[in-house]
Amino acid sequence: VERTFVMVKPDGVQRGLIGEVVSRLERKGLKIVAMKMLRIPKEMAETHYAEHREKPFFNALVSYITSGPVVAMVVEGKSAISVVRNLVGKTNPVEAEPGTIRGDLAMDIGRNVVHASDSPESAKREISIFFSDDEIVDYAKVDEDWVYER
Ligand code: GTP
Ligand code: MG
Repeated sequence: VERTFVMVKPDGVQRGLIGEVVSRLERKGLKIVAMKMLRIPKEMAETHYAEHREKPFFNALVSYITSGPVVAMVVEGKSAISVVRNLVGKTNPVEAEPGTIRGDLAMDIGRNVVHASDSPESAKREISIFFSDDEIVDYAKVDEDWVYER
């Protein structure tokens, strides 16, 4: 099993889409093992998006992501990183397929509702920025034998 970091961005929270996003993850069969609402401090945002530091949209991105509360999650499942990226859809909602979160719920690359880790290395790094080990809950979910063929 893999763990990935998922976040409902400030626009998703303001638009009342927390439940919609969480619901899509749950319905897929993914397991939420940590979740919290927080307002991201500027420094934390710059660390989280460090790979984009030199991009022309970096300041706008940091200002967007710190503009209001977010809901941060750790999501677990078989191949969870690619599974969640596929559910989220392409970065630009204009190109994101219908059926994906961004394809169904967003209009603008600078307001694309969710974040999801793009690799095992990013997942590990991002989870550690937002959560301490004792905030991640280890539990069995009753539907596991119905979601996965053992
Ligand atoms: P995240 O899950 O948020 O990391 O999105 P992503 O992995 O699909 O895209 P990427 O990591 O390349 O970019 C991070 C975020 O920066 C995107 O989700 C957008 O919100 C924003 N972003 C990326 N490219 C652009 C751009 O060209 N213009 C603007 N305004 N924002 C951008
Ligand atoms: Mg990214």
